[in-house]
Amino acid sequence: MTFYITTAISYVNGAPHLGHAYEAIATDVIARHMRQRDEEVFFLTGTDEHGEPVADAAHAQGVTPQELADTNAARFKALMPLLSISNDFFIRTTDEEHQRRVQEVLQRVHDNGHTYKGLYEGWYCPRCADFKVENEILEGNLCPIHEIPLVREQEENWFFRLSTFQEPLERLYAERRDFVMPPVRFNEASAFISSGLQDISLSRARLNWGVTVPWDPSHVFYVWFDALLNYYTALGYARNGHDLTPTFWPANFHVIGKDILKFHTVFWPAMLLAADLPLPEHVFVHGFLLGADGRKMSKSLGNVLDPFQVLDRFGSDALRFYLMRDVAFGADGAVGMESVTARYEGELANEYGNLASRTIAMIRRYRDGVVPDAATDPELAEAFRGLTANVTVLMDGADVTTALERIWQLVRRCNRYVEERAPWTLAKDPATAGALDETLASLAEGLRVLSVLLSPYLPTSTATLLEALGAPETSLPAAEFRATGGGRTVAALEPLFPKRDR
Ligand code: MSP
Repeated sequence: MTFYITTAISYVNGAPHLGHAYEAIATDVIARHMRQRDEEVFFLTGTDEHGEPVADAAHAQGVTPQELADTNAARFKALMPLLSISNDFFIRTTDEEHQRRVQEVLQRVHDNGHTYKGLYEGWYCPRCADFKVENEILEGNLCPIHEIPLVREQEENWFFRLSTFQEPLERLYAERRDFVMPPVRFNEASAFISSGLQDISLSRARLNWGVTVPWDPSHVFYVWFDALLNYYTALGYARNGHDLTPTFWPANFHVIGKDILKFHTVFWPAMLLAADLPLPEHVFVHGFLLGADGRKMSKSLGNVLDPFQVLDRFGSDALRFYLMRDVAFGADGAVGMESVTARYEGELANEYGNLASRTIAMIRRYRDGVVPDAATDPELAEAFRGLTANVTVLMDGADVTTALERIWQLVRRCNRYVEERAPWTLAKDPATAGALDETLASLAEGLRVLSVLLSPYLPTSTATLLEALGAPETSLPAAEFRATGGGRTVAALEPLFPKRDR
């Protein structure tokens, strides 16, 4: 089986921020989990480099759009390994192969009769690079997203006949309730469609920073169509000389933020239908990260959480864990350094880290570093029953937060188990040697299973721990709690989440 998952591609008019990191991490957790299921996974991320916002930002900085794109694309690309993102390719929409394929697909849309030339007049937000329809506009003619004044614009455009896709889209939404997730976003998209679709502009005549319209070279494509098509074009050239499209298209998951819902849930499926291409399975829409004060993060409010600062102080596993645990995937959530510190100390260090260090320390102290070859405790085994199946179902629905909570309940259960069994007391009396063997074997097994399940979230620390346990296998079948186990030698372990200066 194959699994193709994507993030939105980031604008290069600014530097990467925590919102970008959040989306990449959540998508990475799902991709890594699917690899554990032995799926053939392709995970795509990248940068969106054309259009007015980039051209304007470059102009303001006195550089060419290409120079600005090169500088910022490099920053986005460099962020990925810092976050332990396991993307299989990084697309840039200025890649020649991408541009060629955009032209090819949109030429087909044109040849299929879905375009016409007309005069466009409407309210335009230069920051969104989007014309707004009446019911989206805020009082005072403001952009609903940026809350800046919209500009009245008029120009000759190529149009895409979106209105003719009203019925096909209504049918799609009637037949596939999980096309957009979570349900609240499905309803939002569906309501947008029901309110009546208008044709949209497909090209810009004034701008030259974009992909040239092949049948009318005085125009460039509207940046959103160029950008959306990245999900399709990348497969054609990501692996030099080997076209991955037949293997991976259509995508299983597009992961995006709520501000770009309309483009992905309405324009995108219509465009694919117009190009005779199969539709993706799901669009998952996540919420927004807010400042610790619950307001939109902004430099002027001083409530911005800088991903680089968190990475510096706590490392990538901690940032990944924090974001997946503290902000329910799909909802908005407030983030701040204080709550990062609380999760790091309270959960990573004191719960998982502590379980790891005391389990390994006790095996070394009481059993010369060899996991006792004993039957595991049926009661603990019972607590683990169904866990992997549960996590699998939750991940199918991209519910990375609930899946993590489910795993974490067992981290806590194992810590309670240590207290209940008090191995330090069992170790004092030779008559309880059997009970001590059972306890240590069970803890080693519990810790191993938890680490396999946590590996998509905490790839670095779980790899270190599984290595120390002598059990590096991370495929999902290895996440079953075994009735017996042992005989393996464990190695000494440095604290996985050491104390940090405040
Ligand atoms: N270039 C477009 C997407 C094109 S996809 C074919 C774009 N770029 S963006 O850089 O503005 O945003 C990239 C992704 O980051 C989007 O999914 C967006 O929702 C997400 N986020 C941007 N700010 C965010 C937060 N504060 N919180 C969470 N995600 C946010 O849109």
